Amino acid sequence: MFVSSLLQRVFQHAAEPTRRRSVVLVLGALLAAPVANSFSPSVASALPWDYDMYRQQSLRSNEVARAPVAGTVPVGRQPFTMTIEQAEESLENPVPVSKHSVWRGQRLFNSNCLTCHGPAAKGDGPVGPKLGVPDITQDFYRQKSDGRVFGVVHYGLRAMPRYGFKFSDAQKWDLVNYVRFLQGADVPGMVRPDSK
Ligand code: HEC
Repeated sequence: MFVSSLLQRVFQHAAEPTRRRSVVLVLGALLAAPVANSFSPSVASALPWDYDMYRQQSLRSNEVARAPVAGTVPVGRQPFTMTIEQAEESLENPVPVSKHSVWRGQRLFNSNCLTCHGPAAKGDGPVGPKLGVPDITQDFYRQKSDGRVFGVVHYGLRAMPRYGFKFSDAQKWDLVNYVRFLQGADVPGMVRPDSK
């Protein structure tokens, strides 16, 4: 009631041509304020439709698809039940250190491991020093078995994330072979990257 009688009075007031202009200006300013306000970042980001594109079912970067139902195995995957220690002792690398395997491993390494380990695995990636990432081309790491590297990539180790969910066994062996190449194994046709 109050609003409609107020509007009625405003329109009567505006009926006189001399006053019309100022009434239009005041009404315009009143209407423009909330519209302009909704575009300012603080207010606009609190509006419910602002998240529509964000809240969706697609997987985000590094998000993992739902874990398989207990007792089932995804098609094309073998369950890996060894511990890192068991893998270190007895897991054999079935993939020869060929140019193709090392090349595939390089692609995976550069997009998943380089941030920490650096291009030549010296521990000098952009976040390497912050996490205390070691230079894994040192003898201490070079002497570890292929099975251990596989196990570490699968389960992660302390500050190193696990990758078991992300890579197939074949991809993990390609990564092992690339780590071996960075640690000094010669592979015809492949050039070892410089550190940094
Ligand atoms: C978030 C940083 C980070 C990323 C990404 C990362 N690592 Fe690591 N990695 C580490 C750290 C830290 C260690 C040392 C772990 C320790 O001994 O505490 C390590 C250790 C290792 C070791 C030596 C483990 C041992 O003790 O035998 C290998 C091999 C390795 N990483 C390979 C990889 C590979 C391959 C990838 C990519 C698939 C990768 N890392 C991705 C941080 C990372």
